[in-house]
Amino acid sequence: MSTVLYIKANPKSNEDSFTFKMSEAFIKTYQEKNPGDQIVTLDLYKEGIKFLDAEMLGQMYSGQETVMKKYAQQFAAADKYVIAAPMWNLGSPAILKAYFDYVVLAGVTFKYTEQGPVGLLAPGKKAVHIVARGGKYSEGPAAQFEMGDRYVKTILGFMGVENISTISTELTGVLQGEVLEQSVNASIAAAKEKAKEF
Ligand SMILES: Cc1cc2nc3c(=O)[nH]c(=O)nc-3n(C[C@H](O)[C@H](O)[C@H](O)COP(=O)(O)O)c2cc1C
Repeated sequence: MSTVLYIKANPKSNEDSFTFKMSEAFIKTYQEKNPGDQIVTLDLYKEGIKFLDAEMLGQMYSGQETVMKKYAQQFAAADKYVIAAPMWNLGSPAILKAYFDYVVLAGVTFKYTEQGPVGLLAPGKKAVHIVARGGKYSEGPAAQFEMGDRYVKTILGFMGVENISTISTELTGVLQGEVLEQSVNASIAAAKEKAKEF
């Protein structure tokens, strides 16, 4: 039995978010295919993830049971990660970075060595980043400005997750009407296909 951590980083409802339309379809298909697996949903807005402040930094390596350690241990214990986060200002919503500031914790998800930092997550974990973007960044001239998918992949790799894929829908701010609907439906179908072999 695998544990899937479903991380949601958008204040919108499932119905109002293209990102969540894809991620909910992904999770539903995955659950149908893997009924014995456990899905743990982490809605970062409902969790009330905050920016690290001076008090939290003071507690970070104090040996206390902190909120950072709780989330880092939960992250380390999961086998698979579904990260649903729209593109905001070329990256991801800040709450996702704030969450990773809890989770990337020395001694739990990575360690320092003489050769530099090394991820502590067990091998074999996999992740998918699901993202809706108003414009087109997967290829073409704007691809160099894309920093959300790049950050998610880099920070997961830092902790030891190497098998990471992306499901995106693009041009949600450009396409309209039926064309937009068809484009999003194609991305939802792609999400369902990916979920079958995740
Ligand atoms: C605060 C904010 C910043 C955004 N920044 C970008 C951006 O940099 N590039 C882009 O293509 N779209 C941008 N968008 C548009 C969203 O990526 C687009 O609406 C997408 O569909 C949002 O996903 P959602 O439908 O899951 O909320 C931004 C939207 C918001 C609300």
